[in-house]
Amino acid sequence: MNQASKPLHQLFPLIMVLLLLAALLVGLVGGVLYFDNVGLQPSTEHLAKTQEPSAAPKSKALMDPVGMWVAPDWASVDEELNADEIKYGRELIANTSEYLGPNGKVKKISNGLNCQNCHLQAGTVPLGNNYSAAKSTYPKVRGRSGQSEDIQSRINGCFQRSLNGEALADNSQEMKAMVAYMNWLGQDVEKGKSPKGAGIYEVPLLDRAADPLKGKTIYERQCVSCHMSDGQGVMESDGSGYTYPPLWGEHSYNQGAGLFRMSRFAGYVKANMPFGATFENPILSDEESWDVAAYVNSLDRPKKDFQDDWPDISKKPMDHPFGPFSDGFSEEQHKFGPFKEIKAAAKK
Ligand code: HEC
Ligand code: HEC
Repeated sequence: MNQASKPLHQLFPLIMVLLLLAALLVGLVGGVLYFDNVGLQPSTEHLAKTQEPSAAPKSKALMDPVGMWVAPDWASVDEELNADEIKYGRELIANTSEYLGPNGKVKKISNGLNCQNCHLQAGTVPLGNNYSAAKSTYPKVRGRSGQSEDIQSRINGCFQRSLNGEALADNSQEMKAMVAYMNWLGQDVEKGKSPKGAGIYEVPLLDRAADPLKGKTIYERQCVSCHMSDGQGVMESDGSGYTYPPLWGEHSYNQGAGLFRMSRFAGYVKANMPFGATFENPILSDEESWDVAAYVNSLDRPKKDFQDDWPDISKKPMDHPFGPFSDGFSEEQHKFGPFKEIKAAAKK
């Protein structure tokens, strides 16, 4: 062994240790990156999932698209004298939480949902719970309040129930802007008329009660990828709102909300969920829509006492799940059905 190779020889264990450390580091970094990706799957993954052929429509269009309401062209809004107000209204409906949610920059009066989570694309989608009939049909007498309601009080109904929050003052900038937007949307609709495709689809009634257990299976197959197995959805990273909104629990709509009624939930979901479904390409069957509604609406959510609701109990809709009722049917049946016999009895 010559002199020159001796120090190298002595260094050998040290080099081995360094190599080992380097290998460990590479493994660690790689692992972290991998789990990061797996854990926080980007939203596009979920979207791709539901568009696979396995989710192909089970039934055809829910309505003939001919004559369906279409929203005025958004590009034309600048022609309006109150264009800024209308734009602010649309912004509030699309990003409600950012302005009026738990960390709202204007006020903190609602639960983090956006109006648009249920009134799709700012209330412009046919059978997507759109606002086409808001201008033309309000004020109107509603059974729930037993009074004539103007559009402001209808909007506040959703704030207090669907957003489990507080009412906005009629003269606030925010209320005025939302009303201006709805008036602009409904500008071409004849007074008193509800255009084709307004509101929510009426899913044909089943002969049986809707089944929460069957609904759970559907939920696990068709909804968990976005709304999560605990139903709490996914919050935006900056906390300004939801990428996928919650479907039950303390951050969801309360028991006084429209979606707590089975027919509203089933109809909304039939034409719009899983996200990507439309009235022309629905994904769930009628039975699946009712059953998943039964599952979601049998889980915990905020209770709020609306003592003055339904002053005339005979006006309660078939699927209002709280007694007393003017017919002999139980709360259970008013909640899950079968509804046909309730409807038939009401006709007599
Ligand atoms: C959790 C779901 C949900 C959210 C969030 C929600 N709504 Fe609603 N909204 C409904 C349902 C359900 C109806 C009743 C639709 C029906 O019965 O046809 C409704 C009805 C309405 C109507 C009456 C439409 C008509 O033609 O009669 C207006 C106006 C309205 N909502 C405004 C709002 C506004 C403004 C917000 C946000 C502050 C909001 N909603 C948030 C579910 C929701
Ligand atoms: C690919 C993701 C995805 C899937 C799958 C999905 N949803 Fe949604 N869901 C959304 C998004 C996104 C919104 C909000 C829409 C918006 O703001 O434009 C939403 C909104 C909703 C809402 C109204 C808002 C709320 O929080 O109450 C209900 C109800 C709902 N989904 C039910 C379902 C049901 C039931 C299923 C399964 C049959 C389902 N969704 C499957 C993405 C999804």
